[in-house]
Amino acid sequence: MSFSLKETTWIGKEYYYFEETDSTNKKAKEFAVQGCSNGTLVAADYQTAGVGRRGRSWSSEKEAGIYMSLVLRPELKTELASMLTLVAAISVAKAIKIALEQNGTNKIYPWIKWPNDIVINKKKVCGILTELSLKQTEIDFVVIGIGINLWNKEFPEEISSTASSILLETGLYIEKKELINLVWQQFEKYYKQFMDNKDLRQIYKEYENFLINKDSKVRVLDPNGEYEGIARGITDTGELLVETKAGMQRVSSGEVSVRGIYGYV
Ligand code: BTN
Repeated sequence: MSFSLKETTWIGKEYYYFEETDSTNKKAKEFAVQGCSNGTLVAADYQTAGVGRRGRSWSSEKEAGIYMSLVLRPELKTELASMLTLVAAISVAKAIKIALEQNGTNKIYPWIKWPNDIVINKKKVCGILTELSLKQTEIDFVVIGIGINLWNKEFPEEISSTASSILLETGLYIEKKELINLVWQQFEKYYKQFMDNKDLRQIYKEYENFLINKDSKVRVLDPNGEYEGIARGITDTGELLVETKAGMQRVSSGEVSVRGIYGYV
């Protein structure tokens, strides 16, 4: 489904749509290398080789989901780029919340599983993959890829215990173009707030309101040794604050993942 972004100022003015492609992140990186503009959007109805985090694949059923990638060329120190993934997560969570309200439900909420999975009823309905390309030591471009399970009615067995779709969890058929517009409208707002100070000081409280792990027990899968604690919130640079017997730990997203004590959340 081709669409136009009517409610954004700078995102999607350069726009590429594919009925089918291997991966919108891969395409976005190719366009970026060729010199496409800041805010270029690449979207597809079907991905034959969707990419997930940690080298996993992303199941991209034909037409059931939203698969899109944004090219950014931010003036930002490399070490600050990981915060963009939290900016994307809050944008998607807020967009889904508004879409659900506009479609008649304010009883079911989207949540963020730190740092950037969006979950409804403890099942993952959206994943975000942020990729960075450097020129020497500076950021050349960033690609933010967003996959939203919208109308899927079933999932491959390997992921069926943790993955779901907005339709399955809410019973609502949200229109693709409505949600896509909402996501990028929200992203423009939060991205500006982030770029004002190059940190999350204007955003982290709202992010914490979406944080499913907040005040819950979590297990931190640190390669240097797993430990448990209670997630208390995030810092203004996006680390998860985990209270442990040894004190408050600041967990960075690159190195570790976090699980609920009884499973995924
Ligand atoms: C995750 O593992 O949670 C991240 C999944 C990201 C999937 C999206 S779908 C659009 C974009 N293109 C890709 O190949 N991956 C991202």
